[in-house]
Amino acid sequence: MIEGPRLVTEARPGLAAELGTLWTAVTRADGAVGFAVDAPEADIRTAADELVEDVRAGRQQLIAIDADGELAGTVFLRRGDRAVVRHRADVLKLMLHPDLQGRGWGKALLDAAVAHATTIGLEQLLLSTRGGTALPEFYVKQGWTQVGLFPDALRIGPGDLRDEHWFQLRL
Ligand SMILES: CC(C)(COP(=O)(O)OP(=O)(O)OC[C@H]1O[C@@H](n2cnc3c(N)ncnc32)[C@H](O)[C@@H]1OP(=O)(O)O)[C@@H](O)C(=O)NCCC(=O)NCCS
Repeated sequence: MIEGPRLVTEARPGLAAELGTLWTAVTRADGAVGFAVDAPEADIRTAADELVEDVRAGRQQLIAIDADGELAGTVFLRRGDRAVVRHRADVLKLMLHPDLQGRGWGKALLDAAVAHATTIGLEQLLLSTRGGTALPEFYVKQGWTQVGLFPDALRIGPGDLRDEHWFQLRL
């Protein structure tokens, strides 16, 4: 059974391990979520621990989808922490378990993040994504505007440099 998308108000015990498992599966399926496809699982799990710590500390907010009681989809919002950037947030780690991709859940997660951002009074969202993938097209389709491109800013593997595409959504 699929539940969500919902705002996670209390990070349950074991959430970091679930995120590590999800993040590793998405990475191994060539998802563009911060790691090369063959990155060590321990590194991904360390990043998952840190991210859930940020959620517990209120530095980031998580909107999640569960499948059969396990974390299966995420998107994180990280609001600017100084006066000059409090009106905006970064959208990070939009990912669906490979078994659930292509069925509308990614759009549902992103829509939920945008709705929540609007509710808490944010004025704009920012995100970056990996070039050489269909992702820039995905965000354009969701109504985002490409506002920049950093050439060769991502090293995905030996000899594999990718552009980083920056997107903005005004709320
Ligand atoms: C990117 C991702 C979140 C999209 O979620 P999804 O559930 O697979 O996509 P959806 O089924 O919600 O698709 C929504 C719409 O975008 C389109 N779309 C989906 N993936 C697309 C892609 N790669 N390129 C272009 N369009 C795409 C769909 O056709 C659909 O359009 P429609 O509403 O007109 O039918 C998901 O595929 C994923 O987790 N990928 C791996 C992780 C990743 O790379 N995340 C990106 C971080 S920047």
